[in-house]
Amino acid sequence: MNIVWVSSEAVPYAKTGGLADVSGALPEALAARGHKVDVILPWYPQVTGKLKLKFDSFTGPLGVPFGEKHTEWAQIRTLNAKENLRFHFIEYDRFFDRPKLYDWNGVEYGDNAQRFIFFSRAAMQALLALHLSPDVIHANDWHAALCCVYLRSDLYNGYENFRNARSILSIHNIGYQGVFNKENLYWTGLGWGYFHHNCIEYYDQLNFLKAGVMTAHMVNAVSPTYAQEILSAEYGFGLDPALRNCAYSGRLRGILNGIDVHEWDPVHDKLLPATFSADNISGKNVCRKKLQEYFNLPVRADVPLFATISRLAYQKGLDVQAAALTRLLEAGEDLQFVVVGSGDPGLENWYAHLQERFPGKLAFYRGYAPDSLSHLVEAGADFFAMPSRYEPCGLNQMYSMRYGTLPIVRSTGGLADTVTNFNYQNSDSATGFVFYDLNAEALANTMRWAAAVRRDERAAFDAMRRNAMMRDFSWNNTASQYERMYEDAHR
Ligand code: ADP
Ligand code: GLC
Repeated sequence: MNIVWVSSEAVPYAKTGGLADVSGALPEALAARGHKVDVILPWYPQVTGKLKLKFDSFTGPLGVPFGEKHTEWAQIRTLNAKENLRFHFIEYDRFFDRPKLYDWNGVEYGDNAQRFIFFSRAAMQALLALHLSPDVIHANDWHAALCCVYLRSDLYNGYENFRNARSILSIHNIGYQGVFNKENLYWTGLGWGYFHHNCIEYYDQLNFLKAGVMTAHMVNAVSPTYAQEILSAEYGFGLDPALRNCAYSGRLRGILNGIDVHEWDPVHDKLLPATFSADNISGKNVCRKKLQEYFNLPVRADVPLFATISRLAYQKGLDVQAAALTRLLEAGEDLQFVVVGSGDPGLENWYAHLQERFPGKLAFYRGYAPDSLSHLVEAGADFFAMPSRYEPCGLNQMYSMRYGTLPIVRSTGGLADTVTNFNYQNSDSATGFVFYDLNAEALANTMRWAAAVRRDERAAFDAMRRNAMMRDFSWNNTASQYERMYEDAHR
């Protein structure tokens, strides 16, 4: 198939979270299976520009209608990454030459509506300029969701290029929908005819993700459990009615994300001080020691070492984790905890404060860690905590399992789909520790329990590590489900 993948971020070019990991790895996995894949991304001079990429071609000027009677001029930079796989960057500095992708110091850029209307429209124009005739236009999250509307609209549905095209919308996180003042409709060029509740209108505002849900041929959530959860008022963030509609008409799928098993591979990881495998885990102890040294924690083998790497966002439940840690550390619990993260300033300060209060026990890296550090944390820790309020898929629990680091997770979304809870009878299949109610006590007790299993049930603990490391989370495992969804979109 000819597949076009539209996303605002992709590893290694620009990343704020898991969307980038997926956009870097899934197109590659599909290309390796023989599909022709073209990825469309914005060109961020201050971010992607640092990589000093060598481009294979430039296409331009690219005319992008913007507003009702106006055209802006952009350029496409194309990189032939691998066989069947190309990346096309939309260059338009007024909107994308910014120090960060979406915000500055946590405050969203005021022109995000215009920026991503422009990006979606430019993506459609780029397909024409590059003479592509896609079978599938796969839009990701609200940033690209308008592509689904454009494809159905009079602006594009008459083109021969799009005769066989179907649109797919992947929802990586329904907490971010792209809701803006309705005046911005002007920039889309769609006209007020689209401003109704079966399209882009949402409580008298614009909602880009909703527009995508209503117009895509198929909608995909990034894990089976999340695809169910978002049908409820609790997890649907106001889009549950639209999604129930989508589910009833058979347009909703839930396909579990994979991970890049080459980038995250304890056997060949060049970023680690020592490599290891399920059969020979000794290198993990070297990593553990390095990790303790790096964070000035006492180098001890007997203490349980927990870690978290995360955006510090409400979604992640890290406020509850800070409360649980306060409780445990005040009670004098013997543990070490490494937190790597940035985001919400209040949470950043809370962890910084805990580090000051409990030196030698809690270590906090404030910021976005370089890859070498995140790999060391994944490899060196005993346990990886993800107490998420909601988690569409979550990648870190899978990275952790691959490195024999047992996840401690709240049962939600992709966490529920990927971690098998220990119950003392299933050490041949368990891979981690699961709790259900999101409160400090539940998390603190689960951490105590995990530490006790490590200390007192060594055989079970070692077996769980092995189970975790043997799990196959490769994209190749799930790519066929995408193929099926693409085919179904043509039925
Ligand atoms: P989300 O996309 O919601 O942030 P995921 O678990 O899908 O959650 O993906 C998070 C990705 O971002 C992982 O690759 C994780 O390692 C990375 N990440 C998040 N915060 C940081 C940080 N402060 N430093 C390094 N990597 C981070
Ligand atoms: C989002 C979600 C995360 C998911 C990622 C990739 O950022 O928060 O759970 O793994 O997208 O799909």
